[in-house]
Amino acid sequence: MNVLVTGGAGFIGGNFVHYMIDKYPDYHIYNIDNLTYAGDLTKHRNIEMLPNYHFLKTDITDRRKIFKLFEEYHFDYVIHFAAESHVDRSISDSEIFIRTNVLGTQILLDATKEFNVKKFVHVSTDEVYGELNFDPDTFFTEDSPIQPNSPYSASKASSDLLVRAYYETYAMPVNITRCSNNYGPYHFPEKLIPLTISRVLNDEKVPIYGDGRNIRDWLHVYDHCNAIDLVMHDAPFGEVYNIGGHNEKTNLEVVKTIIQVLNKSEDSIEFVKDRLGHDKRYAIDPNKLEKLGWKPTYDFESGINQTINWYLNNKDWWQSIIEGDYHQYFEHQY
Ligand code: NAD
Ligand code: DAU
Repeated sequence: MNVLVTGGAGFIGGNFVHYMIDKYPDYHIYNIDNLTYAGDLTKHRNIEMLPNYHFLKTDITDRRKIFKLFEEYHFDYVIHFAAESHVDRSISDSEIFIRTNVLGTQILLDATKEFNVKKFVHVSTDEVYGELNFDPDTFFTEDSPIQPNSPYSASKASSDLLVRAYYETYAMPVNITRCSNNYGPYHFPEKLIPLTISRVLNDEKVPIYGDGRNIRDWLHVYDHCNAIDLVMHDAPFGEVYNIGGHNEKTNLEVVKTIIQVLNKSEDSIEFVKDRLGHDKRYAIDPNKLEKLGWKPTYDFESGINQTINWYLNNKDWWQSIIEGDYHQYFEHQY
């Protein structure tokens, strides 16, 4: 099997590449990524010499090059992660989000159609459903209306609708997955959990937007990877699957848990101005995926402890990122 993973130098795509190499040593994994600020290949140092791992530096919006690669490598599966992924950056400037997330997806769909790929899995997000209120009995289901609130989620929703349209129009072999917030190894330090761990370890302030009562539903990245594996191999074409493990936490709870595990002081918490259009709550009903046979392996407590340990043992990776261009980005946020 030839499996194309787009965005395989990023957080989730990178974990997925490792997951696939470990689980399916007879598959060839092709990682297409143009290495934006969020992509790095050091995470693949221990697999780069393997004969079944291939890195092809390419921008998914480069139609000519994408078609050439599809023609040359005969991909059986396309697992599409590549995207601009950070909500705050989309609020500052949304243009690249539309280009990469919408146009890039359309080009990959066209190539998938042209070269008879067996399946295209579009990795999307629960944010396309907008926000929930604080009623703990409400969840996003696959039938919830698409009501994105940020430029990022609007770009992802647009790409979801393109995938749906290609299924309806051309009967293409597609699935869409919509996962909740991920955490785990190699999470870029602009996002809440790695930002908190890295700043607490460096004795720096942790910015919490608004009152910290917004809720996110956290899933360990490994459980996202095994859900995609299941959808890739077993899901009927055209189906959408929500992915989430019932781990709802307020942002303040998440930050306080990390501070406690690291045995540091809550004085590092700093309440700052709220994110524009900040969604109140996300929560996933994963019933449809569970019926297909999926079960998460991590609860939040074991997952966050494993993740904190990973950051303690891999300071070189995240410290070099926060001392690079990211430093300037972070300073401009406040
Ligand atoms: P990330 O920002 O860590 O990684 C994105 C990767 O895509 C990077 O390696 C980047 O270099 C690459 N990329 C960006 N533009 C590209 C282009 N034009 N051509 C080729 N490669 C390009 O993102 P992530 O957090 O790993 O998210 C991966 C996917 O999962 C995204 O589609 C995102 O919407 C979705 N998702 C993320 C989460 C989450 O909690 N992080 C949850 C649900 C869904
Ligand atoms: O729900 C899935 C989505 O999760 C993915 O589609 C996105 O790609 C991914 O980035 C993530 O989006 P969020 O906006 O939920 O993640 P982020 O880590 O940026 O923020 C999580 C929460 O923490 C959110 O309510 C905003 C808040 N926050 C974030 C940062 C960076 C803070 O309070 N302070 C911060 O400094």
